[in-house]
Amino acid sequence: MRYGLFSDVHSNLEAMTVVADALKKEGVQEYFCLGDLIGYYSNPVETLDLIASLDCWKIVLGNHDAGCIGKTDLTRFSGPAADAIRWTQKQLKPHHWEMLKSLRLREEIGDIQLVHSSPFQSEEWHYLTKLEDVERNFRYFQGFICFFGHVHKPFIAEQKMDGSVRILEEHELVLQKDCRYLVNVGSVGQPRDGNPQTCYAVYDTDTQKLSIKRLDYDFETTARKTTEAGLSDYLAQRLRTGK
Ligand SMILES: [Fe+2]
Ligand SMILES: [Fe+2]
Repeated sequence: MRYGLFSDVHSNLEAMTVVADALKKEGVQEYFCLGDLIGYYSNPVETLDLIASLDCWKIVLGNHDAGCIGKTDLTRFSGPAADAIRWTQKQLKPHHWEMLKSLRLREEIGDIQLVHSSPFQSEEWHYLTKLEDVERNFRYFQGFICFFGHVHKPFIAEQKMDGSVRILEEHELVLQKDCRYLVNVGSVGQPRDGNPQTCYAVYDTDTQKLSIKRLDYDFETTARKTTEAGLSDYLAQRLRTGK
């Protein structure tokens, strides 16, 4: 099976369009979305409809999605993020509310786990950035591999049989059967690793090849539309720097 994975779209239609086209060309058979479909940018309606058209096998709930539907308090967000969620709430149609309300915090497909923030206390929206936190989280999921998002910085962490964990340099490799993996698939709509290109992943269970890929997209259009919608200039600016 060939899976296409993406996360943290945040209503960025230009980036999601590029990723959806790329995943179709990759010949993926099933799609997994790791949450934060909305928030920050100005095309929630079109972006949710595009994601719905992919007929994803699984989509997990992100903190911005949870904030939008009232499952996470908006005081937990920065000012611009909370403002964007309130703005988004005014745009959504009934079928978008239904879609967001149907999402769960965690999903499991055989040996594969999906979560937005972290296997440990997924509902608390922890950020898995430090190695010690990544190490600890290997104890909180079953199976071979856990995909997640939320951090907006792609990386692959590998745990060997002796329990040791390291962050791999590579973003493309063949997974080893005697290891386990925690994989951040980066962000479609607001990369924060210093590279403004949009990001997605492909995982082929036949070959065990995992690839995290980057592509150019028209972030100037997204930034312009952000400002025109009255959303934060700061949110527009970080698309240009990828930070
Ligand atoms: Fe996010
Ligand atoms: Fe998030």
